[in-house]
This record gives sequence, C-alpha cells and structure tokens, in this order.
Amino acid sequence: MRISTLLTSSIPFGHNFFNRRALASSSLAFRFRTMADSSEDSLRKALSEKQSEVESQGNQVRALKEAGAAKTELDAAVKALNALKLEKTSIEKNLQAIISGPDGGSVNKEAFRQAVVNTLERRLFYIPSFKIYGGVAGLYDYGPPGCAVKSNVLGFWRQHFVLEENMLEVDCPCVTPEIVLKASGHVEKFTDLMVKDEKSGTCYRADHLLKDFCKEKLEKDLRITSEMAMELKEVLSNLDVLSAEELGECIKRYGITAPDTRNPLSNPYPFNLMFQTSIGPSGVSTGFMRPETAQGIFVNFRDLYYYNGNKLPFAAAQIGQAFRNEISPRQGLLRVREFTLAEIEHFVDPEDKSHPKFSDVAHLEFLMFPRDEQKPGHSARIISIGEAVASKIVDNETLGYFIGRVYLFLTHLGIDKNRLRFRQHLANEMAHYAQDCWDAEIETSYGWIECVGIADRSAYDLKAHSEKSKVDLEAQEKYSEPREVEKLVISPVKKVIGLAFKVDQKKVLEALEAMKEEEALKMKTDLESKGEVEFYVCTLGKNVSINSSMVTISKEKKKEHQRVFTPSVIEPSFGIGRIIYCLYEHSYYMRPSRDGNEQFNVFRFPPLVAPIKCTVFPLVQKPEYEEVSKVISKSLTASGISHKIDITGTSIGKRYARTDELGVPFAITVDSTLSLRDLRTWADVWSAFPHHSSGSVDE
Ligand code: ATP
Ligand code: GLY
Repeated sequence: MRISTLLTSSIPFGHNFFNRRALASSSLAFRFRTMADSSEDSLRKALSEKQSEVESQGNQVRALKEAGAAKTELDAAVKALNALKLEKTSIEKNLQAIISGPDGGSVNKEAFRQAVVNTLERRLFYIPSFKIYGGVAGLYDYGPPGCAVKSNVLGFWRQHFVLEENMLEVDCPCVTPEIVLKASGHVEKFTDLMVKDEKSGTCYRADHLLKDFCKEKLEKDLRITSEMAMELKEVLSNLDVLSAEELGECIKRYGITAPDTRNPLSNPYPFNLMFQTSIGPSGVSTGFMRPETAQGIFVNFRDLYYYNGNKLPFAAAQIGQAFRNEISPRQGLLRVREFTLAEIEHFVDPEDKSHPKFSDVAHLEFLMFPRDEQKPGHSARIISIGEAVASKIVDNETLGYFIGRVYLFLTHLGIDKNRLRFRQHLANEMAHYAQDCWDAEIETSYGWIECVGIADRSAYDLKAHSEKSKVDLEAQEKYSEPREVEKLVISPVKKVIGLAFKVDQKKVLEALEAMKEEEALKMKTDLESKGEVEFYVCTLGKNVSINSSMVTISKEKKKEHQRVFTPSVIEPSFGIGRIIYCLYEHSYYMRPSRDGNEQFNVFRFPPLVAPIKCTVFPLVQKPEYEEVSKVISKSLTASGISHKIDITGTSIGKRYARTDELGVPFAITVDSTLSLRDLRTWADVWSAFPHHSSGSVDE
C-alpha cells in the first residue's frame, strides 16, 4: 500500500512512509537470522566444502604434473579429482531442485509465461498501446476478448459487492485538484525510491534492483555461503521497509550497478509517482491524475452519509482509472502506468466494528499469512476467518468479513485457491494510523503478487479532509435517551492572557484549548499546588508561564443527546488488471494434438468470465442446419449471451483450437438434434464429436 502518510515530522521512527517504506528501527538489524531453511543451509555448506576439496585436489594434480610424477600416481590423483567433481555436481543438482521447487524453477516459469503472453497478444486479449509508434512502457490496450473479460469481472464485482451490500456507487473525475491530494498526503509522500545510472541517466526503482540482485544470487550462484544466502533472504523479506539510506547501503555493499550498462548508480532518492497537469488554460491551477479512486469518495462523505439517512455503517464504491508514473514498469500487465481500480470505502463506528453478516463467512478456510509467521522458511497456512477474528489475528469482524468476501470473489472468478493467500502487513509496513492491513496475494510465474489490499484506514482520511476543507466530515450516534457524561472543560481567561502574551496570545489560547485530558488534569493539579506552571507552546517553539488567573480547568457533568465522531474506514482496493492477468495464468494450459505433434493453447475460464460463452455451429454443412444455427444465434443475442456463430465449414478440430484459445466454455451444435456441450474438458469434446475411425479428431 502506498497510502500510509507521515504528514507531521513528529511521528517517530518505525512508522511507515507514505510510499510503504517504513524506516527500519535500526540499520540492517535483520530479525530472522536464526530461521535458516535447514536442508538448503546444509547443502550450501556441503557445496562450499566440496568446492574447497575440488580446488585443493586440483592443485595437487597440477603439482604432480609439474613435478613429473609417475603416471599411476597422476592417474590416481585425476581420478580422485573427477570423483570429487561428480559429488559436487550432485550437490549442486540437489540444491537447484530445492531452490526452484517442484515446478522446475525460473526457466520453466519463464517459458510458461511466454506461452501465456504469446496467446494473449495473438488473440488480442491485450495490445501494447501505441504499438505502431513503438509503444510506451506500462501502457496497454485491451482488445476484444480482453474487454469482454474485464466487463465480466467488473459486472461480477458489482453484483458480489455493490448489490450484495447496498453500496453507494459513485463515479468521480480522474483529474483532481492539488488541494485534495495535498490533504490526503499524496503530493508530499506518494513516492518510490529511485536510482539513476550516473552516466546514461536511466532511472530504476532502487528496491527492484536490490530484489533482482538477491534473487539472482540465491537462484543462480550456488557457491555463496549459507550465511550469505541467509543474509540475502533477510534483505528480501525486508525490502518493503528499507529506508533510502539502507537501500543505498545495500546497493554499495553488494556492488550493484545499472543493469543495462554496468555503470555506477546514484544514491536512492524519492520520486513522486503522480502525473501532474494543470486545470484550465491559465496554467495556475495545478491538478493531478488521481493515483487512487478513494479520495473521490472521502470528499463526498457528507453527502453520501445524508443520502444514507445519516446512518452508519455504509459503504461507497467506485470503479475507475488510476494513474501512477511507475519508475520502470516491468512485469507486463502487473505494473502499469494507468489501470482500473475498484475500491470500497466502508464507513463504520470506530467503537463498533462488528459486522451483522460475519457469520456468513466465518466458516471459510483459506491460506493466511499472519505477520508473526512471516519468516524465512515459513509459509502461509490454512486458517478459518472465524478463528482468525476470534483469536485477534485479524483485528475486527468487518475487516474479517471483507477478507472472506474477497476470497469468495477471487475463487468464483477462477483464481486457484491453492495459489491465493492473505498476507498481513508487517507492523512497520503499515501506515501509522492503520489498525490492520491484509493483502490478497496471488501466485503467478512472477511470484506472489498483491492484487487486493484490504486495510483498516481508521479515521485518517476523513480527518485530513475535514481539517483542510473546514467542513465537518463526522457522524452522529443519536441516543434514545440523553446520557449524562463527564466532560473536561478548559476555559482560558482571554483578557488576562491577552495582557500577558500580547502578539502571542492567539497561539497560547489555541494550545491551551487543544490540551489532551491527561495533560489538562496535570496542569489543574499543578496550578492548584504551585499557582504557576511552565507550558510548552509548539507553535511558538518555547515554554510560557501560565498562572491560575489565566485558565480554569474543570470536569463538568453534562447531558448529551448524541455522540459525534469521525467514522473509521475499512477499504478493500482491487487492482482489476492484476486480477485479470492472474486469472489468465491460472486458466491457461496446453493440450497436445491427437498425433502429439502440436501443442494447443487453452484458457479454461469459468463461464462467468469467459469473453465468449458459446459457439454455435452446424456439424454438417446443410442449409437447414445453418438456418437453425442463425435462429439460435438470434435468441442468444436477445438473452444477452455473447457467442460466435461458425458456418464456415472449417474442420471441427480447427474450430476447437480457435475457441480453446478464447476460453469458450460451451458449444451448441446443430444436426438432426441440438446439443449443448460443455467444452471445458477434452474428454468431453472427444466423446461429443465425430472422429475418424483411426481414432483421431479432425484437427
Ligand atoms: P505495489 O506495492 O505492487 O506497488 P501498492 O502497494 O502500491 O502496490 P496499493 O496502493 O495498495 O498498491 O493499490 C491498490 C491495488 O492497486 C493493488 O493491490 C494493486 O492490485 C493495484 N495496483 C497498484 N499499482 C499498480 C500498478 N502499477 N499497475 C497495476 N495495478 C496496480
Ligand atoms: N486506495 C488504495 C491505495 O492505497 O492506493
């Protein structure tokens, strides 16, 4: 999350920066040093010992040669050397198997990704934007099937969240005036840390370079010591929370240079990710392309609350484009510069975060990765959301409810539940105001990718906008009967203060009125015993003397008819493009042709997301069958079901290869009977369609 904000300089170290990068409390004092992955560890040790043995045996062979030793002696030494080399290769193989895991590691992952991406580009699921001009990094168009998938995902999102919870949907502009994003903290702190190639000026994200370095060393350099491997793993698990200084220190220590030129790199420095523009022709009114849709909802809180009958809780939702000028977008559709966000801001009483429908999701079990368990060698485990909330792993029911609903949403779309986990933010990864924060992460060929952030943002945003706009963004709880409450009353005596502090009187007054209860009560006791106290006024930057004639502090009983408070916000934020890309990877597989000579690409989409739900075709080319096919096509159109009618007479096998690549789940075939076929298993296709007596379907 990039939402965390440090607007005041008084927040101590250990809290998050706006750019998700918290200052680690001490320099690289990594926390997980003892948690070695033991088998990998011992293999690395064995490998480095074997390496020394090979070297010393090699030296011995060389020495024997130089000394003109007898052939038998030399042969024996060479034989021993070869045996050692074999042992070393065997350890390397074992180590490689552990590092790459059962799925064969990075080579296979890249080949798999290439196959998915080739199919997606060939079938126009997406197109690099402005391709005929060479394209622009981080900008992509969705082609016809891509648009259909996106529209299906968004349709289901509206049904699953907006309709289900009666959310209030809004649609706000992308161009946002500076004042809004100043209040939210984006102007000051929406940054990533960047380094520059000192000679060519090419920019890179500092944490990405460090991540690449660590991963490459761990995966490809089998000779690093187990201590070094442990250190690099610890760097990897702390990447998100390293400060600029710490990142710079790592880059120097490991001798990391610019990937393209090997030139030295600058020190890391913050780069604001917002695209700036101006509103109107004069150029005096600065605007930004919004980096998230959430702010549009916060600034509308008062009207939405009124629309909802002044009742809490309620949620507002928005789907729209967000813009982030990512430093060096990589990972294709996963990190882009313009993308669709679907965000929910659920406003709730901070004193009551229970959820009436929590029992609907409490039984759900899925992979969760609580912060205390995020150590090298550990992984997510299955926990029921009911248990996670009961044991306080998840802070409250409303947050838990949304985690459960997000799980249902993603798995309904076709995300594999075994490659989906909910990872809790580390304490120093969260914004200082955030209560708790969980990311839905999906495993792909790129590793685990954050696709949905589910955060308890507390009252931070509403308070920030209220302060800047001077408009109350508060809610009231009306009491059925008036309640007697004890209230602290601070009454400065303006005349006395005016005389004593002259030009500073306003600042002293404000500081007195802003005292917290504990501080005020201490002043009251001190004034009663000593008559005078020293009082620090931060806007003056100095102490002043306050005596008992200047202020009265008392606790008074009052009748209250309502409680006024700033609501807390629970925010699930969905990166739609990321979810869709993960869906493509999870739905893709290859099937061989019957003769085994070719491979066909298949997307096995659930009907819900499939861009085309159905193909309609006559099994034999006959005018009457074509006529029936057209009638069926018409009625499918009338029912709003996307389909393709194919009366070209192309061979059935070819038709399949085409529809498979588009993930079409159903077919209606026409001959003397009408059949509806579920095409999602090849066995079904095999039994459903005519094939040659030799046993091969006509490909
Ligand atoms: P990351 O750490 O990957 O940069 P983030 O923590 O900045 O992401 P948020 O600010 O929480 O992300 O944004 C909410 C969601 O928006 C993310 O969960 C993700 O799905 C999506 N998102 C963020 N940045 C991008 C991007 N550059 N391209 C596509 N989707 C993005
Ligand atoms: N509103 C989600 C974010 O932090 O970007």
